[in-house]
Amino acid sequence: MDRIRITGGRQLNGVIPISGAKNATLPLMIASLLTQDTLILDNVPRLADVRLLQRILGNHGVDVMIAGKRPGESTDNQTLHISAANIVDTTAPYDLVSKMRASFWVVAPLLARMGRAKVSLPGGCAIGTRPVDLLIMALERLGAQIEIDAGYVIASAPRGLQGNEIVFPKVTVGGTHTALMAAVLANGTSVIENAACEPEVGDLADCLNKMGAKISGAGTTRITVEGVAKLNGARHSVLPDRIETGTYAMAVAMTGGDVMLQNARPELLQAALDTLAQAGANITATNEGIRVTRNGGGIAPVTVTTEPFPGFPTDLQAQLMALMTRAKGTSTITETIFENRFMHVQELARLGARIHLDGQKATIEGVDRLKGAPVMATDLRASVSLVIAALAAEGETTVNRVYHLDRGFERLEAKLSACGASIERLSG
Ligand code: UD1
Repeated sequence: MDRIRITGGRQLNGVIPISGAKNATLPLMIASLLTQDTLILDNVPRLADVRLLQRILGNHGVDVMIAGKRPGESTDNQTLHISAANIVDTTAPYDLVSKMRASFWVVAPLLARMGRAKVSLPGGCAIGTRPVDLLIMALERLGAQIEIDAGYVIASAPRGLQGNEIVFPKVTVGGTHTALMAAVLANGTSVIENAACEPEVGDLADCLNKMGAKISGAGTTRITVEGVAKLNGARHSVLPDRIETGTYAMAVAMTGGDVMLQNARPELLQAALDTLAQAGANITATNEGIRVTRNGGGIAPVTVTTEPFPGFPTDLQAQLMALMTRAKGTSTITETIFENRFMHVQELARLGARIHLDGQKATIEGVDRLKGAPVMATDLRASVSLVIAALAAEGETTVNRVYHLDRGFERLEAKLSACGASIERLSG
């Protein structure tokens, strides 16, 4: 199993190209199931989760062709030509769905286009219970018959889905993606209330509109979808990854230095950038991206609560906590989205962090120094928080179980070492 070895204490200086967003790519790839025509996606990151979804879609009969980099492109992002001309199977089995929760979302386009789908319940997840009750509610509101049997959700709508009002009692990104993908091919108009406003929802809606859907209001809490009989192919470029952007911005705030986050867009993570500015980083938006600098000054403590967009994202909570371990004072971070998203706390403590947990609230008492140690990656965002801490720790840190990182960060070691970090992957 691969490990990553980091020797801390170096500043970061240079350019980091920001990849296409994983969390936009996954629903966009799944949306290919809605049409017989080819969907072309540009700016797709090279990630383990993308490869896995390729396999999952392949199981339904979807062909994914990967085209190379286009001239002048600054990242390693790829172009996918996705064709769901022939759907051969409407079942998504447990062994595939259990590996990646988001693959459950195939239920919506399969049901909308084929009138039926049988998709395994995704099962437990390290960061919390993460149920799918609201996704099922959305499909039922559109007239789907749902049965749960032997760990599978069996959905059918033999006469097609019917537009309706869907009111989410809590904000859910996956629920909003599901409702959108089902409603686009329903008869009549649907209104999604308390919809997620995350930029990835907007990206999916943009792509669906290019495919011929009639969606308005994406990016707000009320989305209206006028159903159409059929969708076409389209070409769409995935938006930049705001979580990758915020992660590297926090790494620079941690180590000091001067880094241009190329292709990054500030409006996708304003709350996180404001927090970083409060902590003492200088953030400048330019035509090229976002420039982050920090001179020798210390890190100021912050008080942050995770919230749905446009609030501070839960997917940057662990990284911010790593940064705050070195703040000059006491910070508090309250997690409101997932109930068990503090697994990085024990591992950060191994590097010398002082963190006290009380339910959903973490109190972080900044320390003068962290010291390298072997640590274990537990989930995607938690593992990158260990990398951030290690970049500032004295001596050597090895991060084990880095397959978690590979799910969501493209060429992490290459991007950081190009900016002067001492970081390498040890295979086997
Ligand atoms: C997506 C993101 C994930 C991010 C999360 C919140 C992807 C691939 N993943 O996950 O990185 O951390 O949004 O921004 O885009 N809930 C229910 N019932 C449901 C669905 C959700 O109670 O049927 C709850 C969840 O347990 C959680 C909250 O709603 O407490 C938000 O979850 P949701 O927004 O659905 O997260 P995901 O779409 O799974």
